[in-house]
Amino acid sequence: MRKNQEIVLRIKDLSSKGFGVGRAENGQAVFVAGAFAGDLVKVRLLKLKKSYAYAKIVQLIEPSADRLSANDKKICPASADCGGCQFQELEYSAQLKYKENLLKNAFSKIGNIENAPISPIIAMQTPYDYRSKATFPIGMVKGKPVVGMYAYNSHRVVPVSHCNIQKPVCRSLIKAVSGLLSEIPVSVYDETTHKGLLRHLVVRTGAEDVAVIFVINGTKLPDADKWISVLKNVLGENFSLIINANTSKTNVIFTDKFTILHGSGYIYETVGHIKYRISHKSFFQVNPAQAHRLFDIAASHLDKDDRVLDAYSGIGAIALYIAAKVREVVCIELIESAVEDGIFNANLNGISNVSFELGAAEEIIPDILDRGFDAIILDPPRKGCDSKILSSIIKQRIPKIIYVSCDPATFARDIANLCEGGYSLEQVTPVDMFPMTRHVESVGVLRLWR
Ligand SMILES: C[S@@+](CC[C@H](N)C(=O)[O-])C[C@H]1O[C@@H](n2cnc3c(N)ncnc32)[C@H](O)[C@@H]1O
Repeated sequence: MRKNQEIVLRIKDLSSKGFGVGRAENGQAVFVAGAFAGDLVKVRLLKLKKSYAYAKIVQLIEPSADRLSANDKKICPASADCGGCQFQELEYSAQLKYKENLLKNAFSKIGNIENAPISPIIAMQTPYDYRSKATFPIGMVKGKPVVGMYAYNSHRVVPVSHCNIQKPVCRSLIKAVSGLLSEIPVSVYDETTHKGLLRHLVVRTGAEDVAVIFVINGTKLPDADKWISVLKNVLGENFSLIINANTSKTNVIFTDKFTILHGSGYIYETVGHIKYRISHKSFFQVNPAQAHRLFDIAASHLDKDDRVLDAYSGIGAIALYIAAKVREVVCIELIESAVEDGIFNANLNGISNVSFELGAAEEIIPDILDRGFDAIILDPPRKGCDSKILSSIIKQRIPKIIYVSCDPATFARDIANLCEGGYSLEQVTPVDMFPMTRHVESVGVLRLWR
């Protein structure tokens, strides 16, 4: 095989990163972005490794039965160029099957756990218009400033006027921002020269309000009044305009330098019986409807006398949701604004049995686990739990663990570790928190058995 060679492949499978996988004549695996199991495709080889290759579709010769027809109205108009969603053109039922298999494979290949007790995935009834957070790079295309998305696997900005997984208000906002960008003299950041001002537009939507954040290569947003009046036209009074000063040569989007130019800097969201105030700096689940179902699963495994530790608690989203069902919840969270939101939210909802500790879970947990907790909730970032936390839990023999994860690989690794330490995996429930993408959220329940 050689670079740029064109070959014909039948796609047999989807990889854990969402690539279609076929075999070249010499038996090597070829990973193809945008291809689905069953497709017959002509591809161009882009990158050759020792035992596999990456390729892109040149011609779709025979579409998979799972592929939506090209003019299906459900497909996002941005899908062909935008690198945001991998599965816009894949039937929703096939997306769900893929996610269940992804989890099953992670358990058997990474965790060495065969026949993990995985329940059917909890699907979304209408798997669109769900996301409450969007990050749009701002770039120059054909000499014009545009709000866009990165093309797949690149930093090339493609203009986006529509995104069918974001909340509808976000679409009106993209239009308004794009309109003003072409009217006022404002420069756009260029990664190669490190010059220009506007880097990203980040949008966070609450139930009835919006936080609009411009990440800028500087400290001042010129024409701030014009921005505020354009945003008022689209969003009414319930919005904040915030700038984040990021003058570094980096792919990291935010620094800790936020300035609020308009509004409170907070959005509010409701999940079930709990109302949450969320600072623009704090984490919140991007799909509140599915978060509700996830929180119900966690709650269903807890008892009224349980003393619960919620590690990686964020603003206490799960802790406050389960508070009425249990005796007490202690939250641990690294980000100060999230702890402030958590304390505020406990008061807002009249909850007095949830408390917060600010700091790193791996540092705090070994010191407080002997307080007699009956259950621990773990909801770590993608990289999974710090091994110090897992060994402390095993050593302290906490009876019950509820592990929420957005990364099947680290989830399976950590659960295997806990099972070796004396826990048994009772149930895993995948929840489709991120329709149209390859990502999946899951809840695992473990109990101490020896
Ligand atoms: C996936 S979020 C889960 C938040 C919360 N459970 C929820 O449902 O909204 C992970 C949270 O862990 C926090 N975090 C990351 N590393 C941490 C650490 N070492 N110790 C404590 N919290 C951490 C992040 O700030 C974030 O709020």
